[in-house]
Amino acid sequence: MDYGKTILLTIIVFAVGVLILPNTVSLFAGQHYWYNLSGSGNDVPCVKCHADVYEELKLGVHRNLRCEDCHRANKSITYASVSGSYTNYTPGKEAHAATCVACMLCHQINASYASKKPGPYAGGFNITLFGISSPYNYSNATFNGLYEAHNSLVAHAIAKAKNSSLLLDSTEACLACHANIEVRMNFNVSTGMNIVAKDVVLGYNPATGFNESQVNVTGITITGFRSVTEVKS
Ligand code: HEC
Ligand code: HEC
Ligand code: HEC
Ligand code: HEC
Repeated sequence: MDYGKTILLTIIVFAVGVLILPNTVSLFAGQHYWYNLSGSGNDVPCVKCHADVYEELKLGVHRNLRCEDCHRANKSITYASVSGSYTNYTPGKEAHAATCVACMLCHQINASYASKKPGPYAGGFNITLFGISSPYNYSNATFNGLYEAHNSLVAHAIAKAKNSSLLLDSTEACLACHANIEVRMNFNVSTGMNIVAKDVVLGYNPATGFNESQVNVTGITITGFRSVTEVKS
């Protein structure tokens, strides 16, 4: 075979290769490498898509928890899982990969709803004072929260979450205090007070022991509000 023919043949082989080979390359590089799920627990890397969440998490109190410790920790939910080998699998029922979580799933008294890592009890809130109920225990006889100043913040977060405009249960209130997120607050500051007094009446004053003229206050109303907005993070 002469030199020219060899070159021609080589060119033909490459040309054919260029036409045919692309059909054997995957549409998405990597689509034939699969994550091995047969280990214990979740082997799908949540971080692949939620790296931002991972970065934040490593800086805080939950740094020792994994994604699944929270997002796959609701005892009342069966998540999809494979354990030991591919023949030992559980199909997800109420959820496949992950669910949203309320802080109180793990931080209520004895955290009986959480299957993974119950946290310390966030005691000292009373939401029943505001007629609000929750699936989670906020108070009992010992941890009654009767004097907590932020009961209404927590109770109203739960109430709003029920019409699904906020994160689950009281989570939004917990995060407002415990996380470095921006909080916008509207305070109504009273600008005056109305004291309604009846005419002076004669009455017995236990302090002095005499009958004296006293002002009989029949009511106090707070007048006018000055609305103040503060933004803090
Ligand atoms: C392939 C990328 C991908 C992977 C892997 C992934 N997610 Fe997501 N995740 C998303 C996308 C996209 C959304 C937004 C979905 C939507 O709004 O319907 C989302 C939403 C979420 C939400 C928020 C839901 C809400 O209503 O706010 C949570 C929580 C979540 N993922 C947790 C996880 C956890 C835990 C894992 C690991 C088991 C995981 N994700 C793995 C892509 C991914
Ligand atoms: C200590 C419990 C906890 C851990 C650990 C945790 N999360 Fe979350 N995550 C929450 C809570 C609470 C929310 C807000 C409510 C909700 O959407 O579930 C949330 C919200 C999210 C959201 C939706 C909001 C957003 O910012 O996009 C995503 C996505 C998410 N988590 C992914 C992850 C991933 C990925 C990991 C692991 C790197 C992780 N989470 C670890 C508790 C946790
Ligand atoms: C999976 C259950 C789980 C969920 C859901 C969860 N936590 Fe935790 N939390 C823990 C555990 C476990 C610890 C203890 C961590 C440690 O010691 O490493 C902890 C610790 C904390 C601490 C620190 C307590 C201390 O003594 O320093 C705070 C504050 C806290 N969590 C608030 C929250 C808030 C707010 C949410 C919701 C956004 C939340 N947690 C959701 C399990 C959880
Ligand atoms: C008004 C702000 C505020 C709100 C709302 C709030 N916390 Fe706290 N939390 C605090 C303060 C203050 C401490 C004590 C801080 C310290 O010791 O440095 C604390 C301590 C904690 C601790 C550790 C001590 C303990 O009681 O176990 C946990 C866990 C906790 N909070 C979880 C929560 C959860 C869950 C929620 C939502 C139900 C919540 N917090 C709502 C301010 C708040």
